[in-house]
Amino acid sequence: MANVTVIGAQWGDEGKGKIVDWLASRADAVVRFQGGHNAGHTLVVGEQVYKLSLLPSGIVRGTLSIIGNGVVLDPWHLKSEIAKLEGQGVKISRENFAIADNCPLILPIHGELDVMRENAAGAGKIGTTGRGIGPAYEDKVGRRAIRVCDLAHLDALDSQLDRLCAHHDALRAGFGQPPVDREALLASLREIAPSVLQFAEPVWSRLNTVRKAGARILFEGAQGVLLDVDHGTYPFVTSSNTVSGTAASGSGLGPSATGFVLGIVKAYTTRVGSGPFPTELEDETGQRLGERGHEFGTVTGRKRRCGWFDAVLVRQSCAISGVTGIALTKLDVLDGFETVKICTGYRLNGKVLDFFPSHAAGQANVEPIYEEMDGWEGTTAGARSWADLPAQAIKYIQRVQELIQTPVALVSTSPEREDTILVRDPFVD
Ligand code: GDP
Ligand code: IMO
Ligand code: MG
Repeated sequence: MANVTVIGAQWGDEGKGKIVDWLASRADAVVRFQGGHNAGHTLVVGEQVYKLSLLPSGIVRGTLSIIGNGVVLDPWHLKSEIAKLEGQGVKISRENFAIADNCPLILPIHGELDVMRENAAGAGKIGTTGRGIGPAYEDKVGRRAIRVCDLAHLDALDSQLDRLCAHHDALRAGFGQPPVDREALLASLREIAPSVLQFAEPVWSRLNTVRKAGARILFEGAQGVLLDVDHGTYPFVTSSNTVSGTAASGSGLGPSATGFVLGIVKAYTTRVGSGPFPTELEDETGQRLGERGHEFGTVTGRKRRCGWFDAVLVRQSCAISGVTGIALTKLDVLDGFETVKICTGYRLNGKVLDFFPSHAAGQANVEPIYEEMDGWEGTTAGARSWADLPAQAIKYIQRVQELIQTPVALVSTSPEREDTILVRDPFVD
């Protein structure tokens, strides 16, 4: 049986949550493998709207949902997100939810450091979500993180706390802040520990067992390839690898488990936070895309920057992440535009480029080369089959797949779960 790995192929917010929720009916397990509660996914099911940041989107359907070791986990956020979803009638128990016991924790000092750094950076700020993601990953790689399994052994944490505090105290002093209050930190960890430990287990083992039993596994990526710490618009990126390969290392299954790589691609482009964005439109057209697409961040409420579809970036993301097929989302947002543009290449210092350069200055200075197409009359909103689409909208989809050299497997035409056109089922070999 094929597994499916869902990743964002732009700067995040492509509609991954909606697609994962839709695909979850075909999956036996959904696994988050990187990122943390910097993610924000909106799921619309009939009258109900669910907003998730940390829990895998499969939880809404009741599908076995797992937080893999590649995620950085804020225990206090976990508790409140579980409570919020339970308040909406979602059932969460050990039966359908598990957390890797080797996940590093996001502590209050991480969020504080994130915000202090951003405030001090002025114009050079990254525009992070302020949720401590970068500092938590730094501590993981620096071998001084406190992990989920440590919550069961808080009395034996002294030497790890020494290392953690030595590092943070020096940084905090640089911002004129008092040292870490170890006792207060330990007390709050003691208090929160049971709500995390009740779901903690070696999830690699559970995943390997269900896989051997023939389960279909859906890996749910957060953010997008252009926010990947290696391949994205560095340094304006998040602090994890968001590419498909991370599904293996971030869950405890080997790379062959990744299966069909489904890249989620918005029919135009958006970005939240700072950093280069070649096709950004700071005019009425950009405004119109933002209004029609309700482009406000789920986590921070910030207005998303908007622009035309950039085929160069998506072609690159698809190549880097080995995308098998894409889900093209928010096509309906382009309804009513007289003409639409697609970026097919860049101009930089008098040369034409068919790729996005690595250097920040090059990324900031490329000028998009556009191809213009007629828009379509009529509407794609709510379409559930190919036959419901205007001919010109089909032309747009075909041009997109040609330019990105990757086929379309799904098309999404509204926020609603069922407003989805299936072209090729990613779970079918
Ligand atoms: P994610 O972070 O990739 O899961 O995406 P977000 O949930 O942050 O942002 C996508 C937004 O677009 C959400 O508000 C979705 O409800 C909405 N959405 C998803 N697919 C479609 C679609 O095909 N059309 C429209 N109009 N909205 C969509
Ligand atoms: P989903 O999963 C869009 C962006 C932030 C900032 C940069 C670094 O909803 O697609 P961080 O807090 O991660 O250190 O911030 O990354 N960012 C996202 N942008 N969607 C997301 O997640 C994002 N997660 C982080 O805006 O520019
Ligand atoms: Mg989002």
